[in-house]
Amino acid sequence: MVRLDYLAAFAVTLAGSATAIDLDITSEESIKNAAATAAFNTMSYYTGNQTGQIPGNINSSWWEGGALFDTMIQYWYFTGDASNNPAVSQGMYFQRGNDNYMPSNWSSYMGNDDQMAWALAAMTAAELDFPQGTDMPSWLTLAERVFNMQAARWDTNTCGGGLRWQIWPYEAGYTMKNAVSNGGLFQLAARLARYTNNQTYSDWAETIWNWSVTHLINEDKWTVADSTQTDSNCSTVGNNQWTYNYGMYLGGAAYMYNYTNGETAKWKTGLDGLLNTTFTTFFPEKYGGEIMSEVLCEPLQVCNDAEITFKGLLAGDLTFVSIMAPYTASDILPRLQGSAAGAAKQCSGGDSGTVCGVRWYQSTWDGWSGMEEDMSATSIFTSNLVAYKDQAPATQTTATNETVSANGTVTGSGTTTTSTTSESSGVVKSGASALAYGPFGVIAAVVAVAIA
Ligand SMILES: *[C@@H]1O[C@H](CO)[C@@H](O)[C@H](O)[C@H]1NC(C)=O
Ligand SMILES: *[C@@H]1O[C@H](CO)[C@@H](O)[C@H](O)[C@H]1NC(C)=O
Ligand SMILES: *[C@@H]1O[C@H](CO)[C@@H](O)[C@H](O)[C@H]1NC(C)=O
Ligand SMILES: *[C@@H]1O[C@H](CO)[C@@H](O)[C@H](O)[C@H]1NC(C)=O
Ligand SMILES: *[C@@H]1O[C@H](CO)[C@@H](O)[C@H](O)[C@H]1NC(C)=O
Ligand SMILES: *[C@@H]1O[C@H](CO)[C@@H](O)[C@H](O)[C@H]1NC(C)=O
Ligand SMILES: *[C@@H]1O[C@H](CO)[C@@H](O)[C@H](O)[C@H]1NC(C)=O
Ligand SMILES: *[C@@H]1O[C@H](CO)[C@@H](O)[C@H](O)[C@H]1NC(C)=O
Ligand SMILES: *[C@@H]1O[C@H](CO)[C@@H](O)[C@H](O)[C@H]1NC(C)=O
Ligand SMILES: *[C@@H]1O[C@H](CO)[C@@H](O)[C@H](O)[C@H]1NC(C)=O
Repeated sequence: MVRLDYLAAFAVTLAGSATAIDLDITSEESIKNAAATAAFNTMSYYTGNQTGQIPGNINSSWWEGGALFDTMIQYWYFTGDASNNPAVSQGMYFQRGNDNYMPSNWSSYMGNDDQMAWALAAMTAAELDFPQGTDMPSWLTLAERVFNMQAARWDTNTCGGGLRWQIWPYEAGYTMKNAVSNGGLFQLAARLARYTNNQTYSDWAETIWNWSVTHLINEDKWTVADSTQTDSNCSTVGNNQWTYNYGMYLGGAAYMYNYTNGETAKWKTGLDGLLNTTFTTFFPEKYGGEIMSEVLCEPLQVCNDAEITFKGLLAGDLTFVSIMAPYTASDILPRLQGSAAGAAKQCSGGDSGTVCGVRWYQSTWDGWSGMEEDMSATSIFTSNLVAYKDQAPATQTTATNETVSANGTVTGSGTTTTSTTSESSGVVKSGASALAYGPFGVIAAVVAVAIA
């Protein structure tokens, strides 16, 4: 059954065609199979759950672990395939540091956006009722702890506010205030507002939005600048256009739109403006207008690994925009469909014939491969299942708080532990103190969960 609010899009839908990852975009089963293939390929790069490896660690790119698990939690929610859940739970808990996603191995060289990738994954887990580990902090607690930490970093000494990109003064990038950091905190605030109904979060969402539209977002053109510099008191912006930046602000605006019952004009205005720019910029007319492209790096094929993940992250954000602001679904779905159809053709590399490249608009494999390519493809396939999922993300009052115990039994109403430790005052600690909060036995227990 296709949900009524998405039905209009099917009138203009593309017919299925023979592809490397076989995809009939009008068939729920076919989309699930495509997502399963891409998810399997993605996780085959993940070694963090193997003996002697570090759970949640994606080689030298720590933040990508958060992005990977966010993608896989959504994959589980939309497909029902729980086969990756043990690896996801293990990594999500192992990297949680002092319940705040600042594990000591990484905390000395971390950006606000890196930490946020994990907090947003925890928020997704809360909203989608991803099972919690027994005796573990709730997903909500983990998201709130990061929120409080980053809100305390809001810096009014320069530029009248804003969050810096990097956390520590010795890091290159400390003098930048950028879209992904501020947009990330904005999105988390908006989602926490809706989830908890606590006004502290909606006030913060408004503060961050207000600052953003006077410093990074052009309210006439609805463009999102990538960054600005504290050296010049944020008087000039670097105008690079990235999908991920738009996704952050789009998601936050949609959650605020929903939280205010569609009654606050500024959220709808912002959402409509940003959506329009997103469509015109990242779904180029020259590829038919319905295939997503990272336009800054794909034409010359110079995207780095992080940049290759961005399209998948925007796909996830657009999906939840269509849920929180259902009037946008008929504009969003055709673009999710066009992008998935394109990605299916692009995913025709390697021995398996299902390895994904970067350019979804190119009907033959572009020769690139990696976890990031497969992860973005997983996300675009998974996103298309939104048309079949007649269910809204949870709030604190509707959450089931399911827990997983060591023997794999999933139970309702989990214990919600809260912790009260706050950020250490800029002193960077080294060593394995994070492990004190993640006793190996408990983590191993979560990993041992049987697959339903
Ligand atoms: C990290 O490196 C190892 C060894 O080269 C490789 O097996 C693994 O797939 C890499 N992980 C990712 C996510 O690329
Ligand atoms: C690690 O996770 C992958 C993907 O979920 C899974 O297929 C594999 O069996 C896991 N390996 C171990 C050792 O648990
Ligand atoms: C921190 O690094 C050490 C040494 O590589 C490793 O044993 C440990 O598991 C890591 N902890 C986390 C939370 O990543
Ligand atoms: C810096 O910019 C903020 C607004 O972004 C403004 O309120 C403040 O006066 C400016 N400071 C200086 C020194 O120009
Ligand atoms: C609302 O959230 C803030 C920030 O996490 C917290 O300090 C405050 O106690 C919460 N208020 C209520 C009523 O739960
Ligand atoms: C945000 O700006 C609007 C005016 O554009 C103002 O009414 C509102 O009070 C501001 N909110 C916050 C939290 O600063
Ligand atoms: C959408 O964006 C285009 C290009 O920037 C602009 O010309 C058009 O007026 C915008 N439409 C709406 C409805 O905002
Ligand atoms: C808020 O989201 C819910 C769940 O998707 C949806 O049913 C409702 O219509 C949304 N509210 C508005 C004002 O669009
Ligand atoms: C699994 O553990 C739960 C919680 O400890 C317990 O209630 C249940 O009986 C156990 N199930 C089996 C099959 O051992
Ligand atoms: C789930 O946990 C939240 C706290 O995060 C609590 O407010 C809510 O009542 C719990 N729901 C159930 C069904 O236990």
